[in-house]
Formats: sequence, structure tokens, C-alpha cells
Amino acid sequence: MNKYGYFDDAAREYVITQPDTPLPWINYLGCEEFFGIISNTGGGYCFDRDARLRRLTRYRYNNVPLDSNGRYLYVKDGDEIWNPGWKPSRAALDRYECRHGLGYTRITGAKNGLEVSVTYFVPIGEKLEVWDVRVRNLTGEKKSVSMWGFVEWCLWEAMDDMSNFQRNFSTGQVEVEQNAIFHVTEYRERRDHFAYFALFGAMASGFEVSRDRFVGVHDGLDRPRAVAAGKCTGAVTLGWAPVAAHQIDLALAPHEETRFHFLLGCAENPYKEKFEKPFVANKAPFRRVAGELARAHDVDAAFARLRAHWDGLLSIYQVEIDDPHVSRMVNVWNQYQCMTTLNMSRSASFYESGIGRGMGYRDSNQDLLGVVHLQPERSRQRLLDLAATQCSDGSCYHQYQPLTKKGNTAVGVGFNDDPLWLPLAVAAYLDETGDAGVLGEKIGYSDKDNLDGATLLDHLEISMAYTLRQRGPHGLPLIGHADWNDCLNLNCFSTTPGESFQLAGDVAGPKAQVAESVMIAGLFCAAAEQMAGIYTQLGDAGKAAKMLADRKAMQGVIDAAGWDGRWFLRAYDAAGRPIGSHTCDEGQIFIESQGWGVLGGIGLEDGRAVEALDSVKERLATSEGIILQQPAYSTYRLELGEITSYPPGYKENAGIFTHNNTWIQIAETIVGRGDRAFEYYMSVCPSAKEAQIDTFRCEPYVYNQMTAGRDAMTPGEGKNSWLTGTASWCFVAISQYILGIRPGPFGLVVDPCIPKAWKGFTVHRVFRGATYHISVRNPGGISKGIKQITVDGAPVESNVIPIQKQGAAVQVEVLMGAKP
Ligand code: GLC
Ligand code: GLC
Repeated sequence: MNKYGYFDDAAREYVITQPDTPLPWINYLGCEEFFGIISNTGGGYCFDRDARLRRLTRYRYNNVPLDSNGRYLYVKDGDEIWNPGWKPSRAALDRYECRHGLGYTRITGAKNGLEVSVTYFVPIGEKLEVWDVRVRNLTGEKKSVSMWGFVEWCLWEAMDDMSNFQRNFSTGQVEVEQNAIFHVTEYRERRDHFAYFALFGAMASGFEVSRDRFVGVHDGLDRPRAVAAGKCTGAVTLGWAPVAAHQIDLALAPHEETRFHFLLGCAENPYKEKFEKPFVANKAPFRRVAGELARAHDVDAAFARLRAHWDGLLSIYQVEIDDPHVSRMVNVWNQYQCMTTLNMSRSASFYESGIGRGMGYRDSNQDLLGVVHLQPERSRQRLLDLAATQCSDGSCYHQYQPLTKKGNTAVGVGFNDDPLWLPLAVAAYLDETGDAGVLGEKIGYSDKDNLDGATLLDHLEISMAYTLRQRGPHGLPLIGHADWNDCLNLNCFSTTPGESFQLAGDVAGPKAQVAESVMIAGLFCAAAEQMAGIYTQLGDAGKAAKMLADRKAMQGVIDAAGWDGRWFLRAYDAAGRPIGSHTCDEGQIFIESQGWGVLGGIGLEDGRAVEALDSVKERLATSEGIILQQPAYSTYRLELGEITSYPPGYKENAGIFTHNNTWIQIAETIVGRGDRAFEYYMSVCPSAKEAQIDTFRCEPYVYNQMTAGRDAMTPGEGKNSWLTGTASWCFVAISQYILGIRPGPFGLVVDPCIPKAWKGFTVHRVFRGATYHISVRNPGGISKGIKQITVDGAPVESNVIPIQKQGAAVQVEVLMGAKP
């Protein structure tokens, strides 16, 4: 609870009660191919599959005021103009509420005895948004008002739409029927898709298709001309900025409630069936949808299907625990955010403009870790799509566009951690599903047009081989443009403003390519362990042994060249100088190599793992999360790159980068320190940030990418919410390592590592077709260790619950304590 809103845990909603939140607090609509981003005041936009290439509605990023166009409903009551979501008129409301739910947002506003409530959602299986509007006269008098539903069209290609005005102001085209406006720009030439905004359940009394006519050239969305005038011109125009606005005039009896809805969507036609008459778009696909969703009860049924969809998904992992933060994050919001990162990667949020980055290779692989249990089929497809952008030498395209699924040649390859995330993601998929058949899928290599028949297993092998081959003077993996830390650019020396830090400078020159990464070495060790497991399952003991030997050798390299005395070094720069060493003047200790050192299994026997983690605690940990590195860099350093471009305390320069915090959480569970693991978990838990929301500013229901560190001018301020690898890794950390219920090849592993004060908890987990009700008790107040497990009363030998029959439901009792 904070002054802007609260969690309604039972409804699985976050309720915003004050519209002027510290930043727009957003939600996502859509689960499959059609998506919308929606803020608590109705701002945002929607798109079909690709936020850049198929954007339906226009959005002005970085606008003033921030977030001031979107899906707007206007009310004109006498001379007053208002919006149920407060924006864009910002007329004071008597009551305002926004409920962000799973795949839907409901905004309610009331003023002068009229209440307007609109539920926005994307029905399962459709390429459209429903705006389900209810209008209620709260008074004992009759009430006559006019309303408008409004969107501004984007001319499909979002980048072009915001730059190429000399052409675009002449291409806009619409078609109009009673209650339906069709956006058909470029349909007459090369496009075979169009968009529509249509009204059902009421008769439109007017429409407008031109922004100049609806809003006015010198007017703002806060007071559009047509709304102020109370009527539309009904003119069909071409060019300029096409919009869609429907006017509805209502005469409400005392206490009467009325209901109508809009459909905002897109439709596609086969090339030969594009037109129903010369130059008139074939509306058949629209008419089908209109037929299916014309009535209010159709809308109710579609909404019920959406809710059932989410209930089904979330029932796969549920925890009962006496901690409101853990239960709402694990049971609802964290899993929901994981699905969002699966859908969006890093492409479209309020901080990712949908035109820049498509799907990231490392990002999407990591995102899978949080969703394989929810959507194994889609995860499988994603793995194959990702692998298809890998080249035959093992290098990977860093990004690809979701519509084309082709590697982005402008960014290219050479981020040397990329290949290693695939084995981790594939291993997670195999553990969840047991679907070893995926390894034989023929994908081919990107540089061979994917025609050479290489299988997923071949891709895994070349990933490992790539890292083994690409090594530097100390035998550590070469870092390339960057490893996980995009901003540690040790081979790229950029002096020209505006150029990419990752792609600039000497990176292509043979001499400057020698910088090495300790983090990649640790990641390799972790991936090698997983690969050995995969070979073992395939019955290939020889290759499993070879993998473990490669891992051992890499461990030797880290021991010899990657340890600084009290923590793991981060890297060596192109001149062979250590980064992340006590001998450095700044940037003496980095978080990533401590995480992957321990996750890679280094120093577990000789105490160095614990020592490294203690150094993290001592030097990097704060109450708001663990800082990426310390001390912050105070000057720009050519030889280190973008990391030193940020002012101290922000982003990769000593910000709290939430993603890598999760690796330390997991590392702490590996060394058995449940209290510390959970303390770190809570330090970045968004739900706990409600207590200091005016400092944090971001949504308290999802993880953000970065929080300003102690060196910043605004410590504790969050940025870049939603699209971050934190989502999946946090879910892995809490569900698999702290609560400790994790899928393995031979069953569900039970290995909690919890705060000593926890008395117990229960996890309900659906795994390979059976349901496990796992109740963990901790009578001795310990952090880790299992005394006994029983399944339906029968003791189990190890801490792995054997795979149960399809459809079975078993009761698992877990007693923590010392092994008998
Ligand atoms: C961003 C990128 C991710 C990278 C991280 C650290 O979140 O999406 O790929 O690992 O920054 O630089
Ligand atoms: C910048 C950001 C980093 C992000 C990268 C993506 O370098 O600081 O966080 O991963 O851009 O290209």
C-alpha cells in the first residue's frame, strides 16, 4: 500500500487510485501475437507481432507531458470535458481507479454523477483489443452526455512514421462505414493488411478521420476541437494524420447503466483477395471478427477465456507462504513479467521504443529460464528461432527482428557471452519437459541460409567450441564487443560522439582483440556442467567426460588468472591490465564475475566462493540492492568503453543492475546462506519498494532494470521497468533456489535454502503432467538440508522426487534438518 495504490492480491490486480503516479505505471495486453502497452491513464499503443514494423496506433515517446497519447475516451458533460483515465484532459475526477490485471487493464473515472469504466484486453486468438465501456448515471436525474472513442493511427513502420513526414503526410487513407473506420494507408500498393476501429452496442452519431479536424492544428489532445464543439464533421479525408474517432450521444435515465464496446485491431488478406471492389479493401476478415464479438456477452466470454488462460498458467507454480511479498511476486507478478519478457524481449516498453532492439540473443535465452514451465511449446520454438541466428563458427547474431527472424546485420556478432546462454536455456527446457527430441531438430546455420541440416545439438556443441577456441593470452575467453555487461567494451575505443560503443574503434583489428572475460569463463563452467548432464541423458558418457574435462581446465585457468586474492577479477583489458582488481584505482570489484564464479562452481571447496561473496557483501551490497561495481568510474576511459560514459551511480557504472543481483542470490544459496540470499532478494523486490515509492518511482509490481546506486545524485531511484532479464532470473532464484523446487532430468529436486526463521511453506507444482503438493517444514530453524522426504507417505531416497504418472497428484512432505 502506498499513496498511489495497492495490491489487490485476491483479484491478482494492482490498483492505482491516484492518476499522477511518479512515472506512468504500465501494463501489457496480449498473450500471443497482438500486443498493447497501456499506462494507468490509458496511454500507449498496440502492434501486430513487431512494434516497429506493424504498429497500429501512434505513440510519441518522450512527449510532454510524458505519456500523453493513447486509447482515449472523452466525455462532454455540459461544458466540461473529461477522461475517465484523467489524461489527456487532466480534468479533476471525483473518483479514479486503474486496475492492472493479467492481460487486461480496467480504468474507471467518475465526475458530476457519471461513472465511466473501460476494460481493455486482447482476446485469446485474436489480433485486436477490446475496449469494453460501461457508463453509469449515478444520479437520480436524467443525464445527457456525448462521448468519443479515439485513436491516432501509426502508418505501420514506426521509425518511418516519426521521421518521413514529406511522404507520410500524403499517404494516409481510410475507409468509413457506419460505426467502423478502416485504416488502409499503403493497402492500395504493397500492404495486404489494414486496421480498424469499430463501435458495437451503440450507434455512432458522428465520426472523424482527420487529426486536424478532430483535434485541430493548434489544439491539444487535452481539448480536441470536435469534443469542444460537441460534434464531428464526418468528412472523409486523405493524407496528413489519419485518426479514428466515433461520437456516441447518450441520454441516460436516473441510475441507468449502458454498455458498448470498441474493437481496435488489424486484418490481413491473401494477395489475390485484397479488394472487394476496385480500391475498396476486402473487409471479410473484419466482418468475421465483428460477427463473433458484436454482443456484450461475446465480450464477457472472451474476457472469461483470458482469465481462465492466466489461472491455468499460474497454477503450474504456486506457493503458500507467510510473506505477502514472496507470495504475490511468485504467484502472480513475477511470472506475469516473465511472460512479458518472453513476448517482448527488450523491444517495446515505455523505455524501449519498439524501433531499436528486436529480440536479443542473450536476453531471450535467459528469458526462457522463467517461462519454460509456463509455455514449453513456445519456449521450444523460441529456442529453435534463436539457434537459427547462430553462424557455423558458433558466433551468434546479437539481435533479430521478430517479424523476419533474421539476424540483425547492423549489430552483427561478436558479443562473446552470447553462444553460452543457449546451452543453459536448452538444459532448462529439457529438465522441464524431458523432450530430448528437440536436440535432433534440424535448424541449420544462419550463414548457410539454414540449409545445411545442423541440429540443435550441433548448435550446442559449436557454442561450447567457440568459447574454447576464442581465448586470450591468459587462456580466458575473449570478450569481443562485450560480454553480459554491454558496457564493458574492452576492445572498442570510441572517441566519436554518437557512435555505438560496442561497434566502434578497433574491435575488428587483430591486435586489439585480446581482452578477456572472467565472467564468460565462469559461465562456460556452468554451461559445461549442463552439457555434461545432457550427454549423460543421451547416453554419451565419452562426450560427458570430455565436457567435464574442459570445465576442469577452464576452472584451472580461472584459478591461475581469474582470482584477485579476495574476489574474482572481472576481466583483462586489451593491454593485459586487470579489471576489477584491488590494484585498480576505480572499478576494483564487479558483481558479475562473483556471481558466475560461484555459479560456475569455482572456489566451493577451498572457501574462495564464500570469500568472494563476503567481499560482495562488504563492498557492493546496499539496502536497495547490490551495486554493479565499486568504486564508480569518475572519468571516461577509452579502454573501458560505455561503462565509464555514465555518471557515477547510474546504469552499469555503479548502478544497482537488478539482473545480476539474482546471480548473487543464487550463489548465496549454493553456499547455504539462506538469510543472506533472502535479504538480497528483498532488497530488490518491487513490492517492498512501496514503502519508498516517491524515491523509487517505478511500478511496484514488476522488476526494473536499474536503480541508482549510492554514488548517484538520486540513490534508490528506479528506471527502465518491465523488460529486464531480472524477471526470469528472479523467478529462478526464488522458486528454484530459495524455495528450492527445481526440475531436473530425473524428477523434481527439492533443495530449499531459506531464512532460518521460516517455519515452512507449501509449493504446488505441475511437472511433466503430474501435480505435486510439496509441504516443507523447518522445525529446527535451519537454512539448508533435508532430513526426510516422503511421497504419499513413502520415503524417498534422495532429494529428488521421482517423476510421477501423467495426471497423478501426490502429497510430498519435506522435513528439513540434518541427514540421519
Ligand atoms: C541490458 C541488456 C542486456 C545486458 C545488460 C547489461 O539489460 O538488455 O543484454 O546484459 O543490459 O549491460
Ligand atoms: C546500453 C545500456 C545497456 C544496454 C545496451 C543495449 O549500453 O547501458 O544497459 O544493454 O545499451 O544496447
